[in-house]
Amino acid sequence: MAVETRDTTTTHTTRPAVRDRVASRTAAYGDSIWTEMAQMFKQHPDPVYFGDGSPAPEAMPVAQLRAASAHAWESAPKSLGYGESDGFLPLRELIVERMKPRGIDATAGDIIVTPGSTQGIELAARVMLEPGDVVILENPTFLGAIQTFEAYEPRFVPIDVDEHGMDIDALERALASEPRAKLVYTIPTFQNPTGSTLPLERRQRMIALAREYGVLIVEDDPYGELQYDGEAVPPLRALDPDVLYLGTFSKTIAPAVRTGWTVAPKDLQTYLLAARELIDIHNDRITMRTVYHTAADGYLDAHLPSARARYKSRRDTMLAALEEHMPDGVTWSRPNGGFFVWVALPENIDVVELLGRAARRGVIFFPGHWFYPRQERRNTFRLSFSTVPEDRIRLGIQRLGGVLRHD
Ligand SMILES: Cc1ncc(COP(=O)(O)O)c(C=O)c1O
Repeated sequence: MAVETRDTTTTHTTRPAVRDRVASRTAAYGDSIWTEMAQMFKQHPDPVYFGDGSPAPEAMPVAQLRAASAHAWESAPKSLGYGESDGFLPLRELIVERMKPRGIDATAGDIIVTPGSTQGIELAARVMLEPGDVVILENPTFLGAIQTFEAYEPRFVPIDVDEHGMDIDALERALASEPRAKLVYTIPTFQNPTGSTLPLERRQRMIALAREYGVLIVEDDPYGELQYDGEAVPPLRALDPDVLYLGTFSKTIAPAVRTGWTVAPKDLQTYLLAARELIDIHNDRITMRTVYHTAADGYLDAHLPSARARYKSRRDTMLAALEEHMPDGVTWSRPNGGFFVWVALPENIDVVELLGRAARRGVIFFPGHWFYPRQERRNTFRLSFSTVPEDRIRLGIQRLGGVLRHD
């Protein structure tokens, strides 16, 4: 309620400052992690940075993007007016074709081109959540998803993850005891941050449970095309057309093009599209054409094998360096794809204190508590290998070993 006080020494009416009247949900928005990261970079002249979840700069198709952009501008000025909210039709058709080999059967009408899968998460939350509704998610999970959902004031029910992804028995218990459960947010393939992949049998159980309890599965799949070894497991959306699937070109082309997509269940597409129209009308129409020309004619498929080979060899270098330099009691994941290795320390080590010392020794990573909706665990961290050349990976892990051993 607005409070108005009369200042008796002057004739002015004083009111609370606007900054004191922001919505209560902003309590969930702490300081940006980038502020904390910026401090870390000041601690050493040449830190090895294992925080970046971008593709390798060397794996970005720069020449192709430049040529594609020139091509895209040929459509101006026609393409410079307002356009269709679901996105450039040839791009949606291309997305449909690209998903077919992974078993996803969709039409261009099921797709909305979004500015990254971040907006897909936002759309799912806008369309599904009332304050107090329950969002079930992996524990740990993608920090950006936690923050996006938080704006809709849900209650989180985090479900632990092992090396095979979400614990489905715990999911079943949660669904049975949470009548307000609306949505299961999952990254089943090369998960961020653990690198784990949910096996087929767990996927089938997750889908059966979602059907039984009438909850929406939101499948976030930025890394599915970046598999280096192991068996391919079909996306959840390939097993069930009622899954809301989120894809992105952020990891296969570049995050800065801000181009991802949703594949909606039939019943939800109208709502998602209406919500999307209200947020930003549509993606940048020139960039959608640029991405289309970059990915069309098999170019992206020709480019991806060399990107995968680069990431595989960086992952192998990181795993070998961890083997060499980590002291006893430290364990880590061995992902078959994606960008991340997840490290668990003995319980008595506080990762925030460790990060402070590590930054001074020239190695920076993302502390694990950022990825838990309740921030309860402080003995884990995430290492990203995608952007770090192999000699720097070896140097960084060697430095980290020294920090852990207090050399
Ligand atoms: C699981 C997950 N979802 C979504 C995103 C964001 O992707 P986009 O750039 O497509 O918004 C990321 C990026 O790190 C991610 O790891």
